[in-house]
Amino acid sequence: MDKKFKRTTVTAALPYANGPVHIGHLAGVYVPSDIYVRYLRLKGRDVIFVGGSDEHGVPVTIRARKEGISVQEVVDRYHSLIKDSFQRFGISFDIYSRTTSRTHHRLASDFFRHLYDNGKLTEQVSEQFYDEQTGHFLTDRNIRGECPRCHNHEAYGDQCESCGATLSPEELINPYNAETGNPLVKRETKHWYLPLDQYQPWLERWILQEHKEWRPNVYGQCKSWLDGGLRPRAVTRDLDWGIPVPVEGADGKVLYVWFDAPIGYISNTKELCDAHPELGSWEQWWKDPETRLVHFIGKDNIVFHCIVFPAMLKAHGDYILPDNVPSNEFLNLEGNKISTSRNYAVWLNEYLDELPDRQDELRYVLTANAPETKDNDFTWADFQARCNNELVAVYGNFVNRALQLTQKYYEGVVPACGVLTDYDRETLAEFRGVKERLEDLLENFKFREAQKEAMNLARIGNKYIADMEPWKVVKTDPERVKTIINVSLQITANLAIAFQPFLPFSSERLRCMLALERLEWESLGRTDLIATGAQLPKPELLFSKIEDETIQCQVDKLAATIKANEEANYQAAPIKETVSFDDFQKLDIRVGTVLECERVPKMKKLLKFKIADGLKNRTIVSGIAQWYEPEQLVGKQVLFIANLAPREFKNGLVSEGMILSAENNDGTISVTTTEHEVKPGSQVG
Ligand code: MF3
Ligand code: ZN
Repeated sequence: MDKKFKRTTVTAALPYANGPVHIGHLAGVYVPSDIYVRYLRLKGRDVIFVGGSDEHGVPVTIRARKEGISVQEVVDRYHSLIKDSFQRFGISFDIYSRTTSRTHHRLASDFFRHLYDNGKLTEQVSEQFYDEQTGHFLTDRNIRGECPRCHNHEAYGDQCESCGATLSPEELINPYNAETGNPLVKRETKHWYLPLDQYQPWLERWILQEHKEWRPNVYGQCKSWLDGGLRPRAVTRDLDWGIPVPVEGADGKVLYVWFDAPIGYISNTKELCDAHPELGSWEQWWKDPETRLVHFIGKDNIVFHCIVFPAMLKAHGDYILPDNVPSNEFLNLEGNKISTSRNYAVWLNEYLDELPDRQDELRYVLTANAPETKDNDFTWADFQARCNNELVAVYGNFVNRALQLTQKYYEGVVPACGVLTDYDRETLAEFRGVKERLEDLLENFKFREAQKEAMNLARIGNKYIADMEPWKVVKTDPERVKTIINVSLQITANLAIAFQPFLPFSSERLRCMLALERLEWESLGRTDLIATGAQLPKPELLFSKIEDETIQCQVDKLAATIKANEEANYQAAPIKETVSFDDFQKLDIRVGTVLECERVPKMKKLLKFKIADGLKNRTIVSGIAQWYEPEQLVGKQVLFIANLAPREFKNGLVSEGMILSAENNDGTISVTTTEHEVKPGSQVG
């Protein structure tokens, strides 16, 4: 770490208190941040680790309505559930508080007021849909009405699920409140905005010039937001759940959840420091330029942490800015998107109950498979394989052999190290550079590689003991065995240290089995960690195998969720109006071969195809980028409408036709193809 910093404030995104946390949250945010903080603590750095629940916003109110309880009850329930499961899982927050705390309400309110008083916010009146009977303004998703295209009466304010049209609430015919059914009227409402446009030049310099070291996914997303041009953002909402806007004439308005939540990091720091005077004033953790601020987040949070929140801090004027914002991509589950609302996830609290005392197994797999640079998939089969083939068969096996042999041959008393052979020396030499390598990776947020490095040490140990075969040598050269065991125990102690930030539970068990007072990071790489003559207690297995039944149980559970969702949700769309055969024949549907496929800059949803159509090649643009990596489609045959009038996009791109794809009831898209290969340009009918 840079010498210019004296201390580090580490934050982990505040999870919404609208459900339990799941493995996606863990892999994206909490496991990496915990590794990082544990490492800094081991290094003896001054660090605080700040977390908490995000208890405002619309999601908690939706949950309350669904469950028929009050919003307060929802946040109380999930806050304690989340807090408790983090603790059981070993996420070592210094504080885990909540955005409904008094401290936070006051601080967020003061923050807003400071911006307001200093002329940093702008006011704007706009027309929004309003339910006169309930006295509420509505969000897009809570508005329904008749679709202007297909006349489905239950279209949403943002989309018609019947014909797929993207809509805005203004387009709906006879809009009504989705919950009450009441008709809606337009009404003027005033809101306060953070004029992000004014911060654009500064943000461009600060991020694009001065933070080139941020992860490419983070930097890239920032760049595309900046390239698109920033616009003022409303920081207030018409809602009755949240922090009241502390301005006269703002009745019924609250701070926008994305305004108050990140301030929660500050409030929670204050709460922590108020309770622990030895940490100094909260302000030094947020205002002293010698403090390094690091935000761990998931990729859907990038814009808020890299653009909006820094602009808020800058506007306020007293605060430091994040030095880095390590963000992960998403973790999928058995090939599907994890979803809180669809209950499709591995929930942390359930994992802890159903696979008791296996925190490190999950930590290990989530780090080994961390979505650091791209989306990744968690599967139970991979979980089992990694646990059994790596933790049990390599790390656990080695440690167990070293400790068991010490018991068997020497009643647990550490034997003296005799003369080292070349092989002993070479093995131990592998440990020399490890501290530096691990530190370099950890400081650069490369947790996955760092853990691999630690695992590599276990592999070296495992190979050493397998090659040395002390159980054979004991018959011919008992003196030599002492050295082999001593070396193995030194390696074991190194493993306990190296794995400490990643696998704290097993490292602690191993520390006890090695009868060490503590594990010192600074002594990582040393080969005199275990004193000759020390008495070791009876060892236990460090890891045990995950049985097939355990895995099957989890797989079945997920399958049951999918099935339940399908049954609850599935209804094929109504059949459209009848068309004549002649009309049908007017459509020219053909087979084409995808020659090239690429993303379209600044248009996230689009893929641009070059299609061989047997005549001349053509360009087709299709809104399926969310569902395919471009390279997946190259070489595939697709069906397309060949005589559709060309369509031009905003950026001048012209699509000459349409690729046919099917939308599944879960909203995923699957491109249609032919069963056998056929010549490009073949007609379909
Ligand atoms: N609750 C948000 C989410 O789950 C994250 C909030 S992070 C904070 O996406 F910065 F706003 F606190
Ligand atoms: Zn429609």
